[in-house]
Amino acid sequence: MLSNYTLTLSKSLTIDAYKQINFLIAGSRGSGKTYGTLILIAELASFPRINLNKLLGTGCLPTQIYIVDFKNSDMAKLGQLLPHGRVATNKIEAVKVVSDFDSKMHNRLNFIKNQAFGATAGTLGMPMYYLIIDEWSATNAAFSQGMTKADKDMRYKWNALITDIAMLNRVPGFGLGLISQQISVINSGLNSSIQEEAGLKLHFGDANMSSYRLTFGNDIQIPDMGLETGEAYAWIEGLTSSGYVIPFGMPEIEPNSLWKYLKEALSNQDDDKYLYMTTN
Ligand SMILES: Nc1ncnc2c1ncn2[C@@H]1O[C@H](COP(=O)(O)OP(=O)(O)OP(=O)(O)O)[C@@H](O)[C@H]1O
Ligand SMILES: [Mg+2]
Repeated sequence: MLSNYTLTLSKSLTIDAYKQINFLIAGSRGSGKTYGTLILIAELASFPRINLNKLLGTGCLPTQIYIVDFKNSDMAKLGQLLPHGRVATNKIEAVKVVSDFDSKMHNRLNFIKNQAFGATAGTLGMPMYYLIIDEWSATNAAFSQGMTKADKDMRYKWNALITDIAMLNRVPGFGLGLISQQISVINSGLNSSIQEEAGLKLHFGDANMSSYRLTFGNDIQIPDMGLETGEAYAWIEGLTSSGYVIPFGMPEIEPNSLWKYLKEALSNQDDDKYLYMTTN
């Protein structure tokens, strides 16, 4: 069954982005993390999906996209397609973009408080918002550096904002997507609550077992099949709590086509229009 928030990882593997709201993506250099996330962004921004054979949905519930990309890679190029103030490539911008995301989240929470008992963005049929942070470990490392008062202020604000979002984001439907070569509490400075709360974990590309273990933990079975670029193992809350991670391949899409998809998908981005929109 397709929901308003059905996200397709591959033709045979779908999740509900509202339920599995926070995702972590790991994988070595060039394994397809950023590219795969861009495909997911095209899907998110054109929700709801009504036909699994088409990458894009109808766009009636367009997920609003916010991006932090200190590497200024393909991800940051979405700045060309998004409204001003949605993409950050340095600390000052990141605090601004994430503050904006966080305050919108609180505005929506206040709105939902005044709706019927038990209402959520999901039950009200509201578009989601997503904050995607590429190179999460490097971003945190950048915020950990610097001893000036301005550096310390930014470090404090950054940690407070991310913690706030991770704690409150389910009801308002404000997802967090973190991408890093290594997703583990020890190596990436990943707040352990974010690691435990993530409903979807992907590890792209070929890696040794210990690296997969850092992503998925020790209780999960991991097949040994030699993944290629754009292929990943998935752990999905409720589905793979024990047992095997699920291997899958992202659709293979040429860069020019992907850019066209993104352009179309991101044609429904607006700072205020979707914050209080309900469809149920
Ligand atoms: N699904 C895909 N379809 C087509 N090409 C892909 C796909 N996934 C990855 N590629 C190709 O592989 C290249 C590297 O992928 P990508 O930039 O996503 O890697 P990465 O894991 O983000 O690496 P890094 O750690 O360096 O940021 C892409 O530029 C693209 O050419
Ligand atoms: Mg990348």
